[in-house]
Amino acid sequence: MKHPKRYTITAALPYTNGPVHIGHLAGVYVPADIYARFQRMQGNDVAFVCGSDEHGVPITIKAKKEGITPQEVVDKYHAIIKKSFNDFGISFDNYSRTSAKIHHDTASAFFEKLYEDGKFIEEITEQLYDEEAGQFLADRFVVGTCPKCGFEESYGDQCENCGTSHNATDLINPKSMISGNKPVRKETKHWFLPLDQYESWLKEWILQDHKKDWKTNVYGQCKSWIDDGLRPRAVTRDLDWGIPVPVKGAEGKVLYVWFDAPIGYISATKEWARQVGKDWEPYWKDSETKLLHFIGKDNIVFHCIIFPAMLKAEGSFILPDNVPANEFLNLEGNKISTSKNWAVWLHEYLEAFPDQQDVLRYTLTANAPETKDNDFTWNDFQARNNNELVAIFGNFINRVMVLTDKYYEGKVPQPTTFIEADTQTLKELRAYPAVIASSIERYRFREAQQELMNVARLGNKYLADEEPWKTIKTDEARTRTVMYVALQVASALAVLSEPFLPFTSEKLKAMLRLSEGDSAHTWDSVSKDQNVLKPEHIIGKGTLLFSKIEDEQIQEQLEKLQASKKMNEAAKKDVTPQKETIQFDDFTKLDMRVGTILEAEKMPKAKKLLVLKVDTGIDVRTIVSGIAESFTPEEIVGRKVTVLVNLAPRALRGVDSEGMILMTETPDGKLMFVNPDGEGIENGATIN
Ligand code: MF3
Ligand code: ZN
Repeated sequence: MKHPKRYTITAALPYTNGPVHIGHLAGVYVPADIYARFQRMQGNDVAFVCGSDEHGVPITIKAKKEGITPQEVVDKYHAIIKKSFNDFGISFDNYSRTSAKIHHDTASAFFEKLYEDGKFIEEITEQLYDEEAGQFLADRFVVGTCPKCGFEESYGDQCENCGTSHNATDLINPKSMISGNKPVRKETKHWFLPLDQYESWLKEWILQDHKKDWKTNVYGQCKSWIDDGLRPRAVTRDLDWGIPVPVKGAEGKVLYVWFDAPIGYISATKEWARQVGKDWEPYWKDSETKLLHFIGKDNIVFHCIIFPAMLKAEGSFILPDNVPANEFLNLEGNKISTSKNWAVWLHEYLEAFPDQQDVLRYTLTANAPETKDNDFTWNDFQARNNNELVAIFGNFINRVMVLTDKYYEGKVPQPTTFIEADTQTLKELRAYPAVIASSIERYRFREAQQELMNVARLGNKYLADEEPWKTIKTDEARTRTVMYVALQVASALAVLSEPFLPFTSEKLKAMLRLSEGDSAHTWDSVSKDQNVLKPEHIIGKGTLLFSKIEDEQIQEQLEKLQASKKMNEAAKKDVTPQKETIQFDDFTKLDMRVGTILEAEKMPKAKKLLVLKVDTGIDVRTIVSGIAESFTPEEIVGRKVTVLVNLAPRALRGVDSEGMILMTETPDGKLMFVNPDGEGIENGATIN
């Protein structure tokens, strides 16, 4: 018996400013879940934790947009996200949230410890400030040009294009996300983690130590960051949403979200340990524990540089053994975008494909963006289901179930003589657990899942070669052996598919009546000669594991995306941004009337101007209007128009203009009257 190893497995805490989509699932949660399930099946001691990231600027921005409080935003999305993870079988031991008291306490205590140990620099510096909003501009409240890669829409704390993390004051041409204004600089006090002091330690830990087994994308980003030189990073913010900075003189300041969120992994572990009556500390402090962070590539610097530096500064924690970060998943050739609704939302997927969680898990793993960005397409999704899950896995199981039922009334037959084909198949089968395990241990989940499918292929080939449906008529004894071997392959699939296709695995175990907790049906038992399914064991009734996905279902999804595309195109057309909000009183100051143009003539030597005589109902007055390039004088005489009558008169080319005609413009620049059209409207009628 192997000595069980302790694993602390974390998956990035999702921001609670929207639901989760397939990109999140493919990049972080499915691989983490495969890994956690696999380690549990090895008998290891696993704490798989996650939770909602409920602080930070994105949440306050969302709250502003929806006109609700940040707390209402996080409550809403925490519930949706938690349910999605549960629905997709992501087997967290604990899904917590950073608004939980245990987290506030843990994060505050962590800060205090570093504060008391003198690990921070306390400094008054100039930060970006929006004078109109009366607020400091931290993180996502400000965008500007990235000093590293030149991307023009980098956030204050991180550039989404190159992944670099920087200070907001580093941005070139910063712009406030609140007012659109250019921020000013204003002095304020903050606490900084002097990353520069950790540089040589990080160099050693990441660049020289054992980190060559980190994925190249992860190692590369770390190296480039360290090579660029590290600078102190503020870990506090002038914001009103977050965990209050627990020291005197820090009123109105909160912890930087990237300071508190990773500590959320620790609080989630504590909360879980409390629930199950365990001690949390070995999961974070015992050097025998393997700590792993599953994340997307935009989180690399935080998990490989900043959080380890925090843990190191604290002093009593272990450091991550690996940080398997994935690249991004695109959707039908375009970047997944929440704001553009270019996404497949998990809760919506389940409405369209109820009970087909495993199909999505399978497709996302088959296409996992492990080494480069990858693309999800609905056609590929359909093909993976129909040509692989249905035609290979499902088909094999179906044949085994039907034939066992038909020939042996569901009883596993006693084999007779094994011939070469049988021993060879069993031998190959026994090799798979180690092959799949080796891929999983190296975080190669696509490869691991391909090997799983090869088990089903092995079964299909065996049946096709041995043709039990023929031998049943000629050699019943031979058929017994063949069905016995085929049933071993089926039960191996039930066991080995669990990390990848947990719902299918459960269904298949029930069909084969593999009892839960039966020590014979473990990962290892598949590789041993001891039989997994014993002769005389009675299996249950077969039901279909997978069903064909029809063209119409795919069409429906493609149309949904098409609709998003149309909406985005409409939104992209240059609409002048909305002006600042005014009060009703401001509006009532405008006096607009229906009028009729009585006379029109060109203003001499002015290309654009016409001089009009307009009956406003109040009087007949002169208005100079810049519409000569769109209308001839003749065609507008007699036209009803809208006139702003209480505009202060002004002289244009020596002619006093006493009002303004309201106009609009076509996309190609032709002016049009805002026309008070309709029966019975008289000059002088007010517009309000
Ligand atoms: N909320 C962050 C994101 O979605 C991830 C936080 S991970 C943690 O990018 F380490 F901070 F928890
Ligand atoms: Zn950049």
